[in-house]
Amino acid sequence: MTTIYNFSAGPAVLPKEVLQQAAAEMLDWQGSGMSVMEMSHRGPEFISIYRAAESDLRELLAVPDNYRILFMQGGGLSQNAVIPMNLVGRKGPDATIDFVHTGSWSGKSIKEAARYAKVNVAASAEASGYTAVPPQSEWRLSPDAAYLHLCTNETIDGVEIDFAPDVPAGVPIVADMSSHILSRQVDVSRYGLIFGGAQKNIGPAGVTVVIVRDDLIGHALPVCPSAFDFKNVAGNESMYNTPPTYGIYIAGLVFQWLKKNGGVAAMEQRNIEKARLLYAALDADDFYQNRVAPQYRSRMNVPFYLRDESQYEAFLAGAKARGLLQLKGHKSVGGLRASIYNAMPIEGVQALVDYLNEFAGR
Ligand SMILES: Cc1ncc(COP(=O)(O)O)c(C=O)c1O
Repeated sequence: MTTIYNFSAGPAVLPKEVLQQAAAEMLDWQGSGMSVMEMSHRGPEFISIYRAAESDLRELLAVPDNYRILFMQGGGLSQNAVIPMNLVGRKGPDATIDFVHTGSWSGKSIKEAARYAKVNVAASAEASGYTAVPPQSEWRLSPDAAYLHLCTNETIDGVEIDFAPDVPAGVPIVADMSSHILSRQVDVSRYGLIFGGAQKNIGPAGVTVVIVRDDLIGHALPVCPSAFDFKNVAGNESMYNTPPTYGIYIAGLVFQWLKKNGGVAAMEQRNIEKARLLYAALDADDFYQNRVAPQYRSRMNVPFYLRDESQYEAFLAGAKARGLLQLKGHKSVGGLRASIYNAMPIEGVQALVDYLNEFAGR
């Protein structure tokens, strides 16, 4: 049988060992006689699953003690509203939120935040067609913003911000790390809040991870639904309402798999090597094109185009025949895209590179 490699941007490939363990435990989790899906979230079995997941994630990202880890619902998009509803209250009715507009996802965040506060687009990559991060020297940051929002990995545009910028004193950085969390080492203490939908590097869709500093909790606007008030979520171990229990269980297995495989530092080394291999094949001649400035190319999401536009269907059919799946680009930008998250082995990237070379007649 052909080995399958799944390059979906999300929901995305999960480690095979994780899926095998979940399958083995599906009907009876560790002698409990229950599937994890059937357990009360308040029972000792699920509480132990939850606490292990929380503490493993804390260890993997070296999350300091003054940050809470929340497992919420609603995905990355709802955080575009949930975060302003929780954070702008600190600054009163005239609060401003700063944004750097680097692509599709930060664009969506800007639109949503404008419903809750004044928005200042401190810098925009629009002029470059979202192929680079505007130089920090050109960012016009507000001195007293409620926070600065960055999408540190633009999943559609393939642009990654690989640094935590300097910001005016007291302005927290909020980072949408949906598509590269756990793929590289980050200094959590440089951020006020990190969030991400799970369905790329963490687990199944339906879990949204929020890592938030203590002092940013407890300022929710009255309009904020109580189930999305960070104070309620943090004060109840993410169980103010029923959490996405099965998704948290799978995320926990992914965290264990990461720890077994050397943690985030080892993943980062693997991801550097995978990205190097793939970009080298795309850059070998002008048969393929990745438009992102090399310095800002994402290690996780690699959009690319064919010089000859009439060949997309043939490319995708040939890829599928070789077990290389879900390479179609996002509908808003067209072309092709390979997402090479933590769970994509280097063999999968090599198989794609072999096919890229074959299709280009090299
Ligand atoms: C960077 C980024 N932010 C936000 C989202 C939206 O996440 P969700 O679909 O979970 O709401 C996505 C989805 O792909 C994403 O890639």
